[in-house]
Amino acid sequence: MSSFIKAGVIGHPIAHSKSPIIHSHWIEKYGLKGSYDKIDIPPDNFKKDISTLIDQGYVGFNVTVPHKQTIMALCDYIDETATAIGAVNTVKIIDNKLHGYNTDAYGFIQNIKQSVPEFNFTSGAALVLGAGGAARAIVYGLLNQGVPEIIVTNRTIEKSFDIMGLDNKRIRVVEWDLKEANLKNVHLVVNTTSLGMKGQSPLIFNLSDLPKQAIVNDIVYAPLKTNLLTNAELSGNLTVTGIGMLLHQARPAFEKWFGIMPEVDDALIEKVLA
Ligand code: ATR
Repeated sequence: MSSFIKAGVIGHPIAHSKSPIIHSHWIEKYGLKGSYDKIDIPPDNFKKDISTLIDQGYVGFNVTVPHKQTIMALCDYIDETATAIGAVNTVKIIDNKLHGYNTDAYGFIQNIKQSVPEFNFTSGAALVLGAGGAARAIVYGLLNQGVPEIIVTNRTIEKSFDIMGLDNKRIRVVEWDLKEANLKNVHLVVNTTSLGMKGQSPLIFNLSDLPKQAIVNDIVYAPLKTNLLTNAELSGNLTVTGIGMLLHQARPAFEKWFGIMPEVDDALIEKVLA
């Protein structure tokens, strides 16, 4: 058996993916023999294209848009986290079988922990803006950290109710127009919508009722400092940028394939932001 380890990321389109920069950095840093490829797989012949990857000896791959749900049907095993989140972003191939995981919740929580080590998840409510795939993973992560109340608000309210199914005691749904109405007990605000992203409208959000000890996180990382984060800084709140979630979600995937839990270092952050 060759000691060369082949991994990659599947998606369509895939040209924009930053994952190869991240994993290649670690392969080099830890002196490993391996590669991490961008693999464009359109939805048409999905099953056949996945079996080709197995035949080509891949040890696994990350999964991005539009395959995070469809890959689940091809997995022989899906762990508890990915099952609850309803999406797989990491696959390990073991004995020609696909094992599915989701590392997004881990990435989100680790980023907060590394950026603000003193933050206490159990101290107050969290407000999550948006109810797409990323929001579901984030809410799952917050529930696991013991956040006592999670307020979910989304332009399309039905999607917020879907997320509420994760824990209908601790999750509360609020209408999008009322998102600033109840900020007094909120200790963490997270934007998971695409508002604020380069080319999109900014997120208009009035932070004046937010306690000063609350932290504000935007998972948008292009630009790194969004309108929301600039306003939060002006209000005196600590902010956490979105790039860390992307970097930290990659760590457990790398560990599954290459056997080393890699570190997020400054050189990596520089490369990814360049
Ligand atoms: P991801 O996987 O990154 O979460 P997604 O599932 O496409 O991506 O979710 C995008 C999120 O941005 C959704 O919450 C979406 O709101 P809707 O569910 O109502 O579509 C939110 N979003 C996108 N454009 C928006 C806009 N102009 N105003 C408010 N929310 C918006």
